[in-house]
Amino acid sequence: MRRSRGLALAALVALLAGGAARADGEGSAPVGDPAQGRKAAGMCRTCHGLDGIARIPIAPHIGGESAGYLAAQLRAFRSGDRVHEMMSIVSASLSDQAIADLAAWYGSLAARATPPDDHAGRDGPGECTACHGVDGLAQVGDAPNLAGETDMYIIAQLQSFRIGKRRHAVMNAVAEDLTDDDIQALADWYSAIGYAVEMPE
Ligand code: HEC
Ligand code: HEC
Repeated sequence: MRRSRGLALAALVALLAGGAARADGEGSAPVGDPAQGRKAAGMCRTCHGLDGIARIPIAPHIGGESAGYLAAQLRAFRSGDRVHEMMSIVSASLSDQAIADLAAWYGSLAARATPPDDHAGRDGPGECTACHGVDGLAQVGDAPNLAGETDMYIIAQLQSFRIGKRRHAVMNAVAEDLTDDDIQALADWYSAIGYAVEMPE
């Protein structure tokens, strides 16, 4: 990975900050109820668990992500902006209220990352950490946690951003010049980190 990407990263962070400000101004989405979301999560548990910890290797952890990120992804699957054979079907029948409730439930869980011993004292992937953290916990509201996602999932998403199939201005630009070896190394870093959430009583 090249050094010159530092400048590009600064531009991306500025872009991201602008995006966050716009999202705040939307205001039309319904307010989510985590208790209703917990009930609705029965539809999700085979693959994501009631706690949002993935049960199948191709699915990501969703517990402990920001509610805003979760709702945005569910809306993107429903509208066809993000496509996946399973999630496109699952999301098709979700109302705006159900999306808000599910996002509120999974988003209400506190996430904890446990890096492996051999990460101690290392800086991690510098061009990702401003947004995804060294330990894979999101540093900005609209970025997801990467800690503990499978190699398979991280690689699939980075490849999808790289070819523009999954669209997001920042991540398309980040992934554009990653080589397959870069992607493997990045996936290895974040997948090696333990990820857990705390369930309320
Ligand atoms: C049959 C398995 C299955 C079920 C059931 C399922 N999901 Fe998924 N979900 C997946 C897979 C696989 C992905 C990864 C999609 C991709 O690769 O783009 C995913 C991705 C997601 C994402 C994107 C997360 C991220 O980090 O970007 C969200 C949010 C999500 N699911 C929420 C839900 C919710 C809420 C439900 C219940 C209403 C649900 N899913 C039901 C399999 C499932
Ligand atoms: C400026 C902030 C920023 C930087 C830098 C950044 N990302 Fe992201 N990343 C995001 C945002 C925001 C999203 C959510 C995209 C969306 O909404 O679809 C994301 C999504 C992702 C996803 C999808 C995760 C999921 O759960 O579906 C992966 C994987 C990822 N980034 C990896 C990386 C890697 C690896 C790097 C470094 C090479 C990196 N990102 C650098 C902001 C950033």
